[in-house]
Amino acid sequence: MQKDLTEQELRNEIQRLAPFHHRVELPYELSTYVPELSRRKIEFTRVTNLVEHAFPLLVDVCGGSLKGRRVLDVACNCGGFSVEAAKLGAEYVLGIDVVDHYIEQANFIKRALKLDQIEFQRMNIEDLDTSTVGEFDITFCFGILYHLENPVLSMKRIASVTKNIMLLDTNVIPTPLIRKSLWSMNMPPVSSGLESKYVTACLWRSQKSVVRFVPNETAVVELLKFLGFAKVKKLKPKLGILEKRYHKRTRATYLALRS
Ligand SMILES: C[S@@+](CC[C@H](N)C(=O)[O-])C[C@H]1O[C@@H](n2cnc3c(N)ncnc32)[C@H](O)[C@@H]1O
Repeated sequence: MQKDLTEQELRNEIQRLAPFHHRVELPYELSTYVPELSRRKIEFTRVTNLVEHAFPLLVDVCGGSLKGRRVLDVACNCGGFSVEAAKLGAEYVLGIDVVDHYIEQANFIKRALKLDQIEFQRMNIEDLDTSTVGEFDITFCFGILYHLENPVLSMKRIASVTKNIMLLDTNVIPTPLIRKSLWSMNMPPVSSGLESKYVTACLWRSQKSVVRFVPNETAVVELLKFLGFAKVKKLKPKLGILEKRYHKRTRATYLALRS
């Protein structure tokens, strides 16, 4: 068993691993959010906003808590949502991400909070398979759909390990006059390497040139139904604290249920 980290060790690790994309409160009233090391305001609010927006319904459909549930946190970054799932009683949480640095941050947070029920692995979504990771009652699919080069293939891999519930949060293209499914194809320039200095969730982009597909709201619903989720509900952005992009309909959250 690993020994507890002292206050000084926690401070040193926060400095060494910063900036973090998620604010997570740590012992000794420390936090992964350090204003002078932070890159964007969203790092302060990302986890709390989405948790307040989407988790009450998730917990409700799960019967009041996540007790006994197996949760997969896809593209977990430093694992703020995995921590929230563990706090809500999940029996086992697996967070996966392609970037070593994010997995190192996530493992630091796990150790600091002594959350043995969470495991973080460096893994590509396209490699998800029941033979290696098993099945999950609930999957978090946050901030990733619009980054994928192979959205249908990747979402099929995620769905193949998801038994019951998928909670999905994504950028969408607003198409107010068009009801049919549409995807916008984006080809960002090959990164100069500068990008990763300014954001906390894009280290993987500098590794390769990517094509990305951003869906409209109808396309997200159709895709989730195609993946075998019989019920798909878009969550209304009713909270005042939620970022403007949800109200402007360029970001949306969906709860998808197998039955
Ligand atoms: C915008 S961040 C979202 C982080 C977190 N889920 C959230 O919503 O705050 C996208 C994350 O996806 C990870 N990622 C990108 N492509 C991936 C892939 N193919 N498999 C696993 N993780 C991936 C990145 O490393 C990054 O941490």
